[in-house]
Amino acid sequence: MNMASLQPWAIALIALAASVIGLYFLWRILLLLSPRWYRSMVENNAVSVDDFVGGPPEPASAFKSWLLNWLNVRNRVAKKEGYPLKTQDSDKVPGLKVTSRNEGNESQASNNKKPPVIVGTIRMGFGHHRIAYAATSWGVGRGSRNDRETWFHDFLNIESEEAQMIKDADALYSKGSRLASELGGMAEKFWGKLTKSGDEDSLRVTYQFAQHMLPLINGLDKNSPIIATHSMVACAAVEAGFTNVINLVIDNHAQWFVVVPGALNLVQGPSNYHSFLKMGVPEKDLALAGHWIPRDLVEGIPDACARRVARRKAGKPLRIIVPVGGAGAQRKFIVSMVGALSGLVKEGKVQLFLNAGDHEHMKEAFVGALESNGMEYDKVVDMKGVQEFKEKMMKQEPSKNVTLFTYEDYFTAVATTDILCNVADVLACKPSELAFYPIPKLMIRRVGDHEAYSALRASELGDGTLEVREVPLAVKYVNLFLTTNLLEVMNKSINDNNKIGLYDGCKNAMRLALERAERK
Ligand SMILES: *[C@@H]1O[C@H](CO)[C@@H](O)[C@H](O)[C@H]1NC(C)=O
Ligand SMILES: *[C@@H]1O[C@H](CO)[C@@H](O)[C@H](O)[C@H]1NC(C)=O
Ligand SMILES: *[C@@H]1O[C@H](CO)[C@@H](O)[C@H](O)[C@H]1NC(C)=O
Repeated sequence: MNMASLQPWAIALIALAASVIGLYFLWRILLLLSPRWYRSMVENNAVSVDDFVGGPPEPASAFKSWLLNWLNVRNRVAKKEGYPLKTQDSDKVPGLKVTSRNEGNESQASNNKKPPVIVGTIRMGFGHHRIAYAATSWGVGRGSRNDRETWFHDFLNIESEEAQMIKDADALYSKGSRLASELGGMAEKFWGKLTKSGDEDSLRVTYQFAQHMLPLINGLDKNSPIIATHSMVACAAVEAGFTNVINLVIDNHAQWFVVVPGALNLVQGPSNYHSFLKMGVPEKDLALAGHWIPRDLVEGIPDACARRVARRKAGKPLRIIVPVGGAGAQRKFIVSMVGALSGLVKEGKVQLFLNAGDHEHMKEAFVGALESNGMEYDKVVDMKGVQEFKEKMMKQEPSKNVTLFTYEDYFTAVATTDILCNVADVLACKPSELAFYPIPKLMIRRVGDHEAYSALRASELGDGTLEVREVPLAVKYVNLFLTTNLLEVMNKSINDNNKIGLYDGCKNAMRLALERAERK
């Protein structure tokens, strides 16, 4: 029998069967080979991720880790030699030094006899950066007991091909979250799942990617204590041979890729602590520290709470600060919430502080919503403006019931929320790193599923609502703030939480970093 005598459908069937069998064998062969590829990928690592996560990967996992790493780095050969670095005084934070690449061929040393304390971060979204500034705030300035310099070391500030690799990955992530939140439905679910699936392989891939980041960190003094606010920075520090690495674990959801072998991993809350123990993170690598909050906010808690409660009692307008995240997602929800609150704003019951950050598209969206609802607003466009606004808010009311904050400068965009929290009554934000700020919070619709646990934590701590997923419910909560004692009850929780140090995470991180450095 020859092929020509077969019916076309029969040929198709045979072809299909052959490709299925072929694919199956290809897969078996890949599974057979991938453990070897995986081993050669990790053989020179300074610490073993496999020991940390409880053993080597199954063949399918080995293949996934190997493939994801290949997609990240392709055929690049990881360099080791550190770029020479220099420091400059920060023009934003007095006392802080900011690192960047030195055009010369040598790294600049600390002016101090002791190696500096490094706060290492990656500017991805606002979160990691915000936490980094919070950590530095306990190392510089009045009352800090730090006798070293404090260096702000952002991987993306070191101009290099390595920094570009990170930017490419970040662009992809921002696009993903924006799309997911605008599309809703299946897309939002899928994105949620992807960002939540932080399994062992995600740590393997993060650690492997960090191998390529060594040139960004090898120019620093290895005796420096280092506080990392991005797990990849902690991975790179461990791999580079730093021995005092403190990793500030983000969020309130235990996932492998946010903890780092060879580092002291500090977590913000008790459920993360026991979840990581359960997963197998050694007790010696783990500690409960409290929430990541900047010093001004923590020290301002008693005054800010008193001011909020006094405003309520006097029937003053409720001040709501609404920031947008660094990824600029959630536009739809926030815009429609602004519209839904326009009635209360015009009645003078609510004042809005809208922080569009450095996102042109958010600024346009806010302006559109304000104009179409006939809401008057003032604009603040720089650091001087926001500082003056804050001073004014301590004593009087704003000239318009809505103030829009928009910037070209990234730092001011991040800092505005920190600056205004103590003069606002309620923070309306997604359950990001802001979920733990010591201010009554209206937690609005999340972007990644991992954020759900942060809203839960805030709600149980008594300083925030559960996640509010629909605009009418957000308006209902605003009315509850206006007409019930909810705000006073939250004030009490914040005061109580503060007394037992729940907001002292960054303070503790800085203390531990310095103590461990002295012990050596
Ligand atoms: C740096 O460059 C100078 C002159 O270009 C050279 O003399 C010196 O040896 C270099 N130092 C290092 C550490 O490479
Ligand atoms: C702003 O609020 C005040 C009360 O604080 C109110 O009297 C006024 O009508 C509001 N203005 C506008 C333009 O909405
Ligand atoms: C806020 O709560 C604290 C703690 O319960 C309380 O001591 C304080 O009086 C409250 N503030 C006001 C202004 O009521």
